[in-house]
Amino acid sequence: MIPHANRVLELRDSIFGEMTKLAKEYNAINLSQGFSEEVVAPELKKYFCEAINEDFNQYAPFTGMPQLIKSVIEYNKKLYDISFDDNNVTITNGATEAIFLIFQSIIDPGDEVLLFEPFYDSYHTSIKFCGGKPVCSTLSYPGFELNFEELEKLVNPKTKAIIFNNPHNPSGKVFSESDLLNLIKFAQRYNLYLISDEVYEFLIFDNNRFIPIQSLQNCYENKKIISISSASKTFDATGWKVGWLIADESLNKLIRRVHQYVTFSVSTPAQIAISRAFINFDSYIQGFINRYQKKLNMICQLLDDIDFEYVRPQGTYFLIGNIKNQSIKSYDLALKLVKEYQLALIPMESFYDRSNEGETLIRFCFAKKDETIISAIKQLGLGLK
Ligand SMILES: Cc1ncc(COP(=O)(O)O)c(C=O)c1O
Repeated sequence: MIPHANRVLELRDSIFGEMTKLAKEYNAINLSQGFSEEVVAPELKKYFCEAINEDFNQYAPFTGMPQLIKSVIEYNKKLYDISFDDNNVTITNGATEAIFLIFQSIIDPGDEVLLFEPFYDSYHTSIKFCGGKPVCSTLSYPGFELNFEELEKLVNPKTKAIIFNNPHNPSGKVFSESDLLNLIKFAQRYNLYLISDEVYEFLIFDNNRFIPIQSLQNCYENKKIISISSASKTFDATGWKVGWLIADESLNKLIRRVHQYVTFSVSTPAQIAISRAFINFDSYIQGFINRYQKKLNMICQLLDDIDFEYVRPQGTYFLIGNIKNQSIKSYDLALKLVKEYQLALIPMESFYDRSNEGETLIRFCFAKKDETIISAIKQLGLGLK
């Protein structure tokens, strides 16, 4: 094998890459990867082009374009009544870079980080990449409730942080205020960083309520709360890679130091476009939520029609189905569906470290056109017969 750094072998190949490759090879309908088939809103495209024509084309300040930092501060104030200033916010290359920077800034080799399985795979990888140890607590199907008894057993003097995401990918669970307060109490008791990935903050269904962790920051005396969000999901613009993190000023300073040497800055015209998109946010976001609520209603109805067991998500654009009556593990079922029925889904085994619950669970992304969802569930019905 070609000479390489040992840590690279620690990283797993991503299941999203594998399923998307197979989807292309077998010309399959792709409900696997979490990106939208919807087009970016026309006004957003206009803002991006305008920014280029207005010559926003050179490196942005490494902390982020002041216009976008201001928009992030303003929407947090207006929608959640949380006050931040410029020193709290750093603009990153998507939430993915924010996750990487945070762990690089707080984790030393040997440190442990608590996370919840099923997990978003980037957490696991980013923790390992700085020599840390990911330690999983299971959110069990179908309720995906936090298990504090288990967390108490897993926490130890090496534990430095706890990361969760709310709304939760892949279960679609939205954590309640008492869940969040209990997490804060736990973090406070063991003096842990509490990291909340909130990239799906605006994808909330059926009158559920999303509570940003930062709105409870006063409950955590140690000021060790960090939150992450992104334009990727909110504006159907995953390819723009604009995200942000919010942290206490002293920690944010350290994170910015890392960001300077990882990517230095984020696309200047994309930041300007997103900052302008936030100006007319109220009218945009209601249409966005309604569109996804309809998609959720539609996929649930179609799954009911074929008698398929699933958990109705409270948020995100993912849904988990249960295949325990298929007498085949989810990875093998996913291979069968993509190769023989031209339908790509995500088998959930790779979202777990400890539990084998993932062997009977499969994830659907319903951020797709209506006709794609209809054809997909038709193929699922055929594949399960
Ligand atoms: C929970 C979660 N966090 C972060 C990301 C990545 O966000 P970004 O596109 O902003 O890097 C995703 C994308 O699927 C996600 O599901």
